[in-house]
Amino acid sequence: MAVTSLSDINALGKVAEAMIEQLGKISAEPNRLVRLYLTPEHRRAADQVAAWMRDAGLGVSEDALGTVRGRLDGGNGKRLLIGSHIDTVINAGKYDGTFGVVAGILAAGHFARAGKKLPFGIDVLAFGDEEGSRFATTLSSSVAVAGIFEDSRLTKVDRNGVSLANALIAYGKQLKDIPAAAYRRDEVGAYVEVHIEQGPVLEAYDQPLGVVTGIIGQAYFDIVLRGVAGHAGTVPMDLRRDALAGAAEIVGIVERFAAAQKDMLVATVGNLAVQPNASNVIPSQVLFTLDLRAADNDVRNDLADWFETEAGAIAARRNLEIAITSTRDTATTPCDPRLQDMLAGAITGVGGNALRLGSGAGHDGQAMAKLCPIGMLFVRCKGGISHNPAEYASPHDMGIAVAALIGFIENYDAQAFG
Ligand code: GLV
Ligand code: MN
Ligand code: MN
Repeated sequence: MAVTSLSDINALGKVAEAMIEQLGKISAEPNRLVRLYLTPEHRRAADQVAAWMRDAGLGVSEDALGTVRGRLDGGNGKRLLIGSHIDTVINAGKYDGTFGVVAGILAAGHFARAGKKLPFGIDVLAFGDEEGSRFATTLSSSVAVAGIFEDSRLTKVDRNGVSLANALIAYGKQLKDIPAAAYRRDEVGAYVEVHIEQGPVLEAYDQPLGVVTGIIGQAYFDIVLRGVAGHAGTVPMDLRRDALAGAAEIVGIVERFAAAQKDMLVATVGNLAVQPNASNVIPSQVLFTLDLRAADNDVRNDLADWFETEAGAIAARRNLEIAITSTRDTATTPCDPRLQDMLAGAITGVGGNALRLGSGAGHDGQAMAKLCPIGMLFVRCKGGISHNPAEYASPHDMGIAVAALIGFIENYDAQAFG
Protein backbone atom coordinates (compact mmCIF):
# COMPACT_ATOMS: atom_id res chain seq x y z
CA MET A 1 0.00 0.00 0.00
CA ALA A 2 3.03 2.28 0.25
CA VAL A 3 3.44 4.98 -2.38
CA THR A 4 6.80 4.54 -4.01
CA SER A 5 6.33 5.18 -7.71
CA LEU A 6 7.23 8.57 -9.04
CA SER A 7 3.95 8.86 -10.90
CA ASP A 8 1.99 8.28 -7.66
CA ILE A 9 4.08 10.90 -5.89
CA ASN A 10 3.56 13.39 -8.73
CA ALA A 11 -0.17 12.70 -8.72
CA LEU A 12 -0.37 13.27 -4.94
CA GLY A 13 1.59 16.52 -5.30
CA LYS A 14 -0.74 17.78 -8.02
CA VAL A 15 -3.86 16.99 -6.00
CA ALA A 16 -2.32 18.68 -2.92
CA GLU A 17 -1.50 21.77 -4.96
CA ALA A 18 -5.04 21.98 -6.37
CA MET A 19 -6.52 21.69 -2.86
CA ILE A 20 -4.15 24.36 -1.52
CA GLU A 21 -5.08 26.68 -4.39
CA GLN A 22 -8.76 26.17 -3.64
CA LEU A 23 -8.43 26.91 0.08
CA GLY A 24 -6.11 29.82 -0.68
CA LYS A 25 -9.00 31.56 -2.44
CA ILE A 26 -11.11 31.56 0.73
CA SER A 27 -10.24 34.91 2.24
CA ALA A 28 -11.85 37.92 3.91
CA GLU A 29 -10.17 40.17 1.36
CA PRO A 30 -9.96 39.95 -2.44
CA ASN A 31 -6.27 40.83 -2.78
CA ARG A 32 -4.65 39.05 0.12
CA LEU A 33 -5.19 35.93 2.21
CA VAL A 34 -6.77 36.68 5.58
CA ARG A 35 -8.69 33.85 7.23
CA LEU A 36 -9.16 34.40 10.92
CA TYR A 37 -10.67 32.08 13.50
CA LEU A 38 -14.49 31.89 13.67
CA THR A 39 -15.10 34.23 10.75
CA PRO A 40 -17.30 33.56 7.69
CA GLU A 41 -14.08 32.64 5.82
CA HIS A 42 -13.20 30.10 8.47
CA ARG A 43 -16.72 28.64 8.06
CA ARG A 44 -16.27 28.34 4.27
CA ALA A 45 -12.83 26.75 4.63
CA ALA A 46 -14.13 24.32 7.27
CA ASP A 47 -17.03 23.34 4.97
CA GLN A 48 -14.58 22.75 2.12
CA VAL A 49 -12.34 20.61 4.32
CA ALA A 50 -15.37 18.63 5.54
CA ALA A 51 -16.41 17.98 1.92
CA TRP A 52 -12.89 16.74 1.07
CA MET A 53 -12.91 14.49 4.12
CA ARG A 54 -16.27 13.01 3.10
CA ASP A 55 -15.03 12.46 -0.47
CA ALA A 56 -11.95 10.73 0.96
CA GLY A 57 -14.23 8.26 2.76
CA LEU A 58 -13.84 9.69 6.27
CA GLY A 59 -16.65 10.19 8.77
CA VAL A 60 -16.94 13.93 9.43
CA SER A 61 -17.84 15.85 12.58
CA GLU A 62 -17.09 19.28 14.04
CA ASP A 63 -16.51 20.09 17.69
CA ALA A 64 -17.49 23.05 19.86
CA LEU A 65 -14.33 24.99 18.97
CA GLY A 66 -14.81 24.49 15.22
CA THR A 67 -12.21 21.76 14.71
CA VAL A 68 -13.27 19.62 11.75
CA ARG A 69 -12.56 15.91 12.26
CA GLY A 70 -12.34 13.24 9.60
CA ARG A 71 -12.47 9.75 11.07
CA LEU A 72 -11.18 6.54 9.57
CA ASP A 73 -12.19 3.56 11.65
CA GLY A 74 -9.66 0.85 12.41
CA GLY A 75 -8.91 -1.92 14.87
CA ASN A 76 -8.59 -1.68 18.64
CA GLY A 77 -5.25 0.19 18.71
CA LYS A 78 -5.33 3.68 20.14
CA ARG A 79 -6.20 6.35 17.56
CA LEU A 80 -3.54 8.14 15.57
CA LEU A 81 -4.32 11.85 15.26
CA ILE A 82 -3.04 13.81 12.25
CA GLY A 83 -3.69 17.52 12.14
CA SER A 84 -2.85 21.11 11.43
CA HIS A 85 -4.72 24.41 11.08
CA ILE A 86 -6.81 26.27 8.52
CA ASP A 87 -6.67 29.78 10.01
CA THR A 88 -4.06 32.18 8.64
CA VAL A 89 -2.09 35.24 9.60
CA ILE A 90 -2.96 38.56 7.96
CA ASN A 91 -1.60 38.64 4.39
CA ALA A 92 -0.71 34.96 4.63
CA GLY A 93 0.80 32.35 2.39
CA LYS A 94 -1.35 29.44 1.26
CA TYR A 95 0.63 26.53 2.74
CA ASP A 96 1.09 27.30 6.45
CA GLY A 97 -1.22 24.87 8.26
CA THR A 98 -3.32 24.14 5.20
CA PHE A 99 -0.82 21.68 3.78
CA GLY A 100 -0.83 19.61 6.97
CA VAL A 101 -4.62 19.26 6.78
CA VAL A 102 -4.48 18.42 3.07
CA ALA A 103 -1.70 15.87 3.67
CA GLY A 104 -3.72 14.22 6.45
CA ILE A 105 -6.83 13.95 4.25
CA LEU A 106 -4.85 12.54 1.31
CA ALA A 107 -3.04 10.00 3.46
CA ALA A 108 -6.15 8.84 5.35
CA GLY A 109 -8.05 8.79 2.04
CA HIS A 110 -5.37 6.51 0.61
CA PHE A 111 -6.11 3.91 3.27
CA ALA A 112 -9.89 4.44 3.06
CA ARG A 113 -9.78 3.75 -0.69
CA ALA A 114 -7.59 0.70 -0.25
CA GLY A 115 -10.37 -0.70 1.95
CA LYS A 116 -7.95 -2.52 4.23
CA LYS A 117 -8.64 -1.94 7.90
CA LEU A 118 -5.63 -0.61 9.81
CA PRO A 119 -5.07 -1.93 13.36
CA PHE A 120 -5.84 1.55 14.69
CA GLY A 121 -8.21 4.36 13.71
CA ILE A 122 -7.07 7.71 12.32
CA ASP A 123 -8.62 11.12 12.99
CA VAL A 124 -7.61 13.99 10.72
CA LEU A 125 -8.04 17.29 12.57
CA ALA A 126 -8.41 20.72 10.96
CA PHE A 127 -7.87 23.19 13.78
CA GLY A 128 -9.10 26.78 13.54
CA ASP A 129 -6.98 28.81 15.95
CA GLU A 130 -3.27 28.24 15.58
CA GLU A 131 -2.10 31.68 14.51
CA GLY A 132 -3.61 33.72 17.31
CA SER A 133 -4.27 36.44 14.73
CA ARG A 134 -7.76 37.26 15.98
CA PHE A 135 -7.91 36.94 19.77
CA ALA A 136 -5.21 37.62 22.35
CA THR A 137 -4.88 33.89 22.70
CA THR A 138 -3.92 31.00 20.48
CA LEU A 139 -4.32 27.24 20.03
CA SER A 140 -7.85 27.38 21.54
CA SER A 141 -9.06 24.61 19.25
CA SER A 142 -6.16 22.20 19.87
CA VAL A 143 -6.12 23.05 23.59
CA ALA A 144 -9.79 21.94 23.76
CA VAL A 145 -9.01 18.74 21.86
CA ALA A 146 -6.16 18.09 24.29
CA GLY A 147 -8.56 18.55 27.22
CA ILE A 148 -6.80 21.56 28.78
CA PHE A 149 -9.19 24.37 27.78
CA GLU A 150 -9.66 26.89 30.59
CA ASP A 151 -12.77 29.06 30.67
CA SER A 152 -10.63 32.19 31.22
CA ARG A 153 -9.90 32.02 27.46
CA LEU A 154 -13.54 32.80 26.71
CA THR A 155 -13.20 36.41 27.84
CA LYS A 156 -10.33 37.21 25.44
CA VAL A 157 -11.45 39.78 22.90
CA ASP A 158 -10.57 40.56 19.29
CA ARG A 159 -9.76 44.03 17.95
CA ASN A 160 -13.48 44.85 17.78
CA GLY A 161 -14.09 43.87 21.38
CA VAL A 162 -15.84 40.58 20.47
CA SER A 163 -15.06 37.92 23.06
CA LEU A 164 -14.09 34.38 22.15
CA ALA A 165 -17.29 33.24 23.89
CA ASN A 166 -19.50 35.47 21.73
CA ALA A 167 -17.59 34.59 18.56
CA LEU A 168 -18.13 30.88 19.26
CA ILE A 169 -21.85 31.46 19.83
CA ALA A 170 -22.08 33.52 16.61
CA TYR A 171 -20.33 30.61 14.85
CA GLY A 172 -23.21 28.40 15.99
CA LYS A 173 -21.46 26.70 18.90
CA GLN A 174 -22.60 26.04 22.46
CA LEU A 175 -20.12 26.71 25.24
CA LYS A 176 -21.45 23.80 27.27
CA ASP A 177 -20.13 21.45 24.56
CA ILE A 178 -16.48 22.53 24.96
CA PRO A 179 -15.49 19.72 27.38
CA ALA A 180 -16.78 17.15 24.87
CA ALA A 181 -14.16 18.34 22.36
CA ALA A 182 -11.47 16.61 24.45
CA TYR A 183 -10.17 13.13 23.71
CA ARG A 184 -9.79 10.74 26.56
CA ARG A 185 -6.12 10.04 27.15
CA ASP A 186 -6.68 6.31 26.86
CA GLU A 187 -8.17 6.52 23.36
CA VAL A 188 -5.25 8.35 21.69
CA GLY A 189 -1.83 6.94 20.83
CA ALA A 190 -0.02 9.83 19.18
CA TYR A 191 -0.40 13.10 17.25
CA VAL A 192 1.50 13.76 14.05
CA GLU A 193 1.62 16.95 12.01
CA VAL A 194 3.03 17.69 8.58
CA HIS A 195 3.93 21.36 8.10
CA ILE A 196 6.03 23.48 5.79
CA GLU A 197 9.33 24.29 7.49
CA GLN A 198 8.83 28.09 7.34
CA GLY A 199 12.61 28.45 7.47
CA PRO A 200 15.60 27.89 5.19
CA VAL A 201 17.30 24.76 6.60
CA LEU A 202 15.88 22.01 4.38
CA GLU A 203 16.49 24.08 1.27
CA ALA A 204 20.07 24.72 2.35
CA TYR A 205 20.63 20.96 2.80
CA ASP A 206 18.80 20.15 -0.45
CA GLN A 207 16.28 17.90 1.31
CA PRO A 208 12.52 17.90 0.73
CA LEU A 209 11.66 16.60 4.21
CA GLY A 210 12.95 16.74 7.77
CA VAL A 211 12.08 15.41 11.21
CA VAL A 212 11.28 17.98 13.88
CA THR A 213 13.06 17.51 17.21
CA GLY A 214 10.99 20.04 19.18
CA ILE A 215 8.93 23.24 19.03
CA ILE A 216 10.44 26.43 20.36
CA GLY A 217 9.10 28.06 23.56
CA GLN A 218 7.30 31.36 23.11
CA ALA A 219 6.45 34.32 25.35
CA TYR A 220 4.10 37.09 24.23
CA PHE A 221 3.50 40.47 25.78
CA ASP A 222 1.19 43.43 25.23
CA ILE A 223 2.87 46.69 26.16
CA VAL A 224 1.12 50.03 26.64
CA LEU A 225 3.20 53.20 26.87
CA ARG A 226 1.42 56.39 27.89
CA GLY A 227 2.76 59.91 27.49
CA VAL A 228 1.08 63.23 26.74
CA ALA A 229 -0.29 64.43 23.40
CA GLY A 230 0.94 67.85 22.33
CA HIS A 231 1.48 70.21 19.44
CA ALA A 232 4.24 69.02 17.11
CA GLY A 233 5.33 72.60 16.50
CA THR A 234 5.26 74.17 19.91
CA VAL A 235 6.48 71.68 22.51
CA PRO A 236 10.32 71.69 22.80
CA MET A 237 12.02 68.32 22.52
CA ASP A 238 13.12 68.19 26.16
CA LEU A 239 9.60 68.87 27.44
CA ARG A 240 7.91 66.06 25.54
CA ARG A 241 6.49 62.81 26.82
CA ASP A 242 6.38 61.09 23.44
CA ALA A 243 5.04 57.55 23.72
CA LEU A 244 6.13 56.54 20.22
CA ALA A 245 9.72 57.72 20.70
CA GLY A 246 9.79 55.61 23.88
CA ALA A 247 8.40 52.59 22.04
CA ALA A 248 10.98 53.05 19.28
CA GLU A 249 13.80 53.02 21.85
CA ILE A 250 12.42 49.83 23.40
CA VAL A 251 12.06 48.15 20.00
CA GLY A 252 15.67 49.10 19.23
CA ILE A 253 17.16 47.64 22.41
CA VAL A 254 15.15 44.46 22.04
CA GLU A 255 16.45 43.97 18.51
CA ARG A 256 20.07 44.67 19.50
CA PHE A 257 19.91 42.43 22.55
CA ALA A 258 18.37 39.50 20.67
CA ALA A 259 20.86 39.87 17.80
CA ALA A 260 23.77 39.84 20.28
CA GLN A 261 22.64 36.44 21.65
CA LYS A 262 23.23 34.93 18.18
CA ASP A 263 21.15 31.79 17.66
CA MET A 264 19.87 31.55 21.23
CA LEU A 265 16.68 33.55 20.77
CA VAL A 266 14.58 35.74 18.50
CA ALA A 267 12.43 38.75 19.40
CA THR A 268 9.83 40.53 17.26
CA VAL A 269 7.60 43.58 17.62
CA GLY A 270 5.04 42.94 14.90
CA ASN A 271 2.06 45.02 15.90
CA LEU A 272 2.06 48.63 16.99
CA ALA A 273 -0.88 51.04 17.37
CA VAL A 274 -0.21 54.74 17.84
CA GLN A 275 -2.59 57.30 19.27
CA PRO A 276 -3.73 59.69 18.07
CA ASN A 277 -1.69 58.73 14.97
CA ALA A 278 -1.63 62.17 13.42
CA SER A 279 1.39 63.75 11.74
CA ASN A 280 1.34 66.97 13.76
CA VAL A 281 0.50 65.55 17.19
CA ILE A 282 3.03 64.15 19.67
CA PRO A 283 1.93 60.54 20.22
CA SER A 284 0.18 60.10 23.57
CA GLN A 285 -0.10 56.33 23.62
CA VAL A 286 1.40 53.32 21.91
CA LEU A 287 0.25 49.76 22.25
CA PHE A 288 2.64 47.16 20.88
CA THR A 289 3.25 43.44 21.07
CA LEU A 290 6.44 41.52 21.77
CA ASP A 291 7.01 37.93 20.62
CA LEU A 292 10.03 36.27 22.31
CA ARG A 293 11.17 32.78 21.38
CA ALA A 294 14.01 30.58 22.58
CA ALA A 295 14.64 26.84 22.37
CA ASP A 296 15.84 26.87 25.98
CA ASN A 297 13.18 27.61 28.61
CA ASP A 298 15.61 29.32 31.00
CA VAL A 299 16.83 31.60 28.22
CA ARG A 300 13.24 32.57 27.40
CA ASN A 301 12.40 33.27 31.03
CA ASP A 302 15.58 35.30 31.58
CA LEU A 303 14.84 37.30 28.45
CA ALA A 304 11.33 38.08 29.65
CA ASP A 305 12.72 39.33 32.99
CA TRP A 306 15.39 41.37 31.21
CA PHE A 307 12.76 42.95 28.97
CA GLU A 308 10.51 44.03 31.84
CA THR A 309 13.43 45.67 33.64
CA GLU A 310 14.89 47.44 30.60
CA ALA A 311 11.56 48.62 29.19
CA GLY A 312 10.58 49.89 32.65
CA ALA A 313 13.85 51.85 32.90
CA ILE A 314 13.38 53.46 29.48
CA ALA A 315 9.80 54.45 30.33
CA ALA A 316 10.89 55.92 33.68
CA ARG A 317 13.70 57.99 32.07
CA ARG A 318 11.23 59.37 29.53
CA ASN A 319 8.53 60.01 32.13
CA LEU A 320 6.13 57.59 30.44
CA GLU A 321 3.72 55.21 32.11
CA ILE A 322 4.21 51.63 31.11
CA ALA A 323 2.06 48.52 31.53
CA ILE A 324 3.43 45.15 30.42
CA THR A 325 1.01 42.22 30.28
CA SER A 326 2.12 38.68 29.58
CA THR A 327 -0.52 37.35 27.18
CA ARG A 328 0.86 33.85 26.57
CA ASP A 329 3.80 31.74 27.58
CA THR A 330 4.51 28.33 26.12
CA ALA A 331 7.41 26.12 27.13
CA THR A 332 9.56 24.37 24.55
CA THR A 333 7.82 21.17 23.44
CA PRO A 334 10.03 18.20 22.58
CA CYS A 335 8.89 15.78 19.87
CA ASP A 336 8.71 12.14 20.97
CA PRO A 337 11.98 10.30 20.12
CA ARG A 338 10.12 7.16 18.95
CA LEU A 339 7.94 9.19 16.60
CA GLN A 340 11.04 11.03 15.40
CA ASP A 341 12.61 7.68 14.49
CA MET A 342 9.43 6.42 12.81
CA LEU A 343 9.19 9.64 10.77
CA ALA A 344 12.89 9.37 9.90
CA GLY A 345 12.19 5.83 8.63
CA ALA A 346 9.30 7.16 6.54
CA ILE A 347 11.57 9.80 4.98
CA THR A 348 14.22 7.23 4.18
CA GLY A 349 11.43 5.10 2.69
CA VAL A 350 10.74 7.76 0.06
CA GLY A 351 14.42 8.25 -0.71
CA GLY A 352 15.29 11.22 1.49
CA ASN A 353 17.92 11.85 4.16
CA ALA A 354 16.16 12.28 7.47
CA LEU A 355 17.59 15.59 8.58
CA ARG A 356 16.56 16.57 12.14
CA LEU A 357 15.79 20.18 12.97
CA GLY A 358 13.99 22.30 15.57
CA SER A 359 10.90 24.38 14.85
CA GLY A 360 11.11 28.12 15.46
CA ALA A 361 7.40 28.44 14.65
CA GLY A 362 4.58 27.56 16.99
CA HIS A 363 2.30 24.63 16.17
CA ASP A 364 -0.83 22.86 17.42
CA GLY A 365 1.51 20.10 18.61
CA GLN A 366 2.36 22.34 21.59
CA ALA A 367 -1.19 21.83 22.86
CA MET A 368 -1.47 18.23 21.68
CA ALA A 369 1.67 17.29 23.62
CA LYS A 370 -0.43 17.67 26.78
CA LEU A 371 -2.60 14.80 25.50
CA CYS A 372 -0.15 12.38 23.89
CA PRO A 373 3.31 12.03 22.32
CA ILE A 374 3.73 14.28 19.26
CA GLY A 375 5.79 14.10 16.08
CA MET A 376 6.24 16.51 13.18
CA LEU A 377 7.41 16.22 9.61
CA PHE A 378 8.72 19.36 7.94
CA VAL A 379 8.51 20.08 4.23
CA ARG A 380 10.94 22.34 2.37
CA CYS A 381 9.55 25.74 1.39
CA LYS A 382 11.07 28.13 -1.10
CA GLY A 383 13.60 30.55 0.36
CA GLY A 384 12.38 29.62 3.84
CA ILE A 385 9.70 32.28 3.34
CA SER A 386 6.50 32.05 5.39
CA HIS A 387 3.84 34.33 6.85
CA ASN A 388 4.12 36.01 3.48
CA PRO A 389 2.11 35.58 0.25
CA ALA A 390 5.34 34.42 -1.44
CA GLU A 391 5.27 31.21 0.66
CA TYR A 392 5.70 28.21 -1.66
CA ALA A 393 6.20 24.45 -1.46
CA SER A 394 6.52 22.55 -4.73
CA PRO A 395 4.03 19.87 -5.78
CA HIS A 396 6.99 17.46 -5.89
CA ASP A 397 7.88 18.11 -2.24
CA MET A 398 4.25 17.97 -1.15
CA GLY A 399 3.80 14.68 -3.02
CA ILE A 400 6.85 13.21 -1.29
CA ALA A 401 5.55 14.45 2.06
CA VAL A 402 2.18 12.75 1.58
CA ALA A 403 3.94 9.57 0.44
CA ALA A 404 6.13 9.68 3.57
CA LEU A 405 3.05 10.20 5.76
CA ILE A 406 1.41 7.18 4.11
CA GLY A 407 4.59 5.15 4.74
CA PHE A 408 4.64 6.37 8.35
CA ILE A 409 1.02 5.27 8.88
CA GLU A 410 1.72 1.92 7.32
CA ASN A 411 4.62 1.23 9.65
CA TYR A 412 3.18 3.04 12.67
CA ASP A 413 3.40 0.81 15.68
CA ALA A 414 0.25 1.59 17.68
CA GLN A 415 1.42 -0.85 20.37
CA ALA A 416 4.44 1.38 21.07
CA PHE A 417 2.00 4.08 22.19
CA GLY A 418 -0.44 1.81 23.99
C1 GLV B 1 2.64 30.60 14.25
O1 GLV B 1 2.79 30.39 13.06
C2 GLV B 1 3.70 31.21 14.98
O2 GLV B 1 4.77 30.58 15.12
O3 GLV B 1 3.55 32.38 15.36
MN1 MN C 1 1.31 26.92 11.03
MN1 MN D 1 1.78 30.42 10.95
